Amino acid sequence: MININTNTEHIKSFVTDVELSVYKDKVAKTFKTIYEKTGAGNDFLGWTSLPSEMTTEFIRDIKNQAETLRKKSEVFVVVGIGGSYLGARAVIESLSHSFSSLINKDNDTHIVYAGHNMSEDYMVELLELLDKKEYSMAVISKSGTTTEPAVAFRILKNHIEKKYGKDEARTRIVAITDKEKGALKTLANTEGYKTYIVPDNVGGRYSVLTPVGLLPIAVAGIDIEELVNGALTIENYCRENQNADNVVAQYAVARQALYHKVKTNEILVSYESRLQYIAEWWKQLYGESEGKDGKGIFPASDIFTTDLHSMGQYIQEGLRNLFETIISVERPNKEICIPLADSDLDQLNYIAGKRLSEVNHTAETATMLAHVDGGVPNIIIQIPEISAFTIGELIYFFEMGCALSGYMLEVNPFDQPGVEAYKKNMFALLGKKGFEDRADALRKRIK
Ligand code: PA5
Repeated sequence: MININTNTEHIKSFVTDVELSVYKDKVAKTFKTIYEKTGAGNDFLGWTSLPSEMTTEFIRDIKNQAETLRKKSEVFVVVGIGGSYLGARAVIESLSHSFSSLINKDNDTHIVYAGHNMSEDYMVELLELLDKKEYSMAVISKSGTTTEPAVAFRILKNHIEKKYGKDEARTRIVAITDKEKGALKTLANTEGYKTYIVPDNVGGRYSVLTPVGLLPIAVAGIDIEELVNGALTIENYCRENQNADNVVAQYAVARQALYHKVKTNEILVSYESRLQYIAEWWKQLYGESEGKDGKGIFPASDIFTTDLHSMGQYIQEGLRNLFETIISVERPNKEICIPLADSDLDQLNYIAGKRLSEVNHTAETATMLAHVDGGVPNIIIQIPEISAFTIGELIYFFEMGCALSGYMLEVNPFDQPGVEAYKKNMFALLGKKGFEDRADALRKRIK
């Protein structure tokens, strides 16, 4: 039994059954291409069996390592960018207290992030925090050569060694990278850091269920077994249901059918603010996987009702190239009712006694219908609650949805050649050896 349901009822006034059937017919073949690894990028399909191949020994090792780090750390720094931090952050923020940094108990470890930007202010402020806190860190880079985390790690390594001395610092650093390639691997070997491997056949944005995501998530005190079990449920379901009724396939088919009706921008929406980073992770997953060869749905995200007061106008009446996908959460984990007021000066007594979630759900239904009426189709992905298990289910759901959708779009969903262009320009302008000609050409353009 899976906990996810896909409701495509509210795309029906935008795409006909005939238009949908074109993509539905492709589902079984596309699942086969994925599970039999016969399509483009087939050497990056390791994520499809990560949940079923995960051993208890591996989970135990991650948990033990996490516990060792937790014991000595008030703060744990995750140094990484893109797929090397978004999955961990998505899970951690979904499952942590909304005010965890202010409410943490004495023995809790607070997770912070570095290497996902190059802001000098951010780095200096992080060091100001780390001056005052006991901390440890994971430096995560599959390639081991990405500039942002490498620069951040150089600064943080310097800080941690000064604070604790080289020997103790070594016990507070874990490296997660390729088994043999890259500068980070060389550095980790030379310094003798505890190292975890990112499997060769798992790309960065599909790596949350490897040590890349699992170690930081475990350090945050989240039950990684439950997370993996959730993902496993959807893996098993997908292996057994390689047809158009599959809830993941319904999502992929709806997206492709809408895209071919020029609904080229998808907004992933949630009414639970703790899912904000699930949307950030999803944006990278879908943006990097589909946006190539002059094609692809542009992934955006909003948290409602917050963003109804900023983006609501555009969604209701702007350019009609949008569709929405709502992650709809049936039950909150906590409970509060709207109190009755003697005076009713704010005129809210008509909803007194209702749970806040009832008002939130009403906003969700009301908004969805208004947007559909305004020309924005809606797909609804329903989960019963936010838990480690259902977040695990969502991870595999979105990964498989992305692979299906990408193959139906006839792109390779597992490469990201376009990410290199900015890197090469940056190396050239910073004076890296080997980029001299590019630097000359660029400088002429920025005079
Ligand atoms: O999905 C991908 O492969 C990329 O977006 C990477 O996650 C990102 O560029 C970080 O790369 P790395 O882990 O090699 O530092």
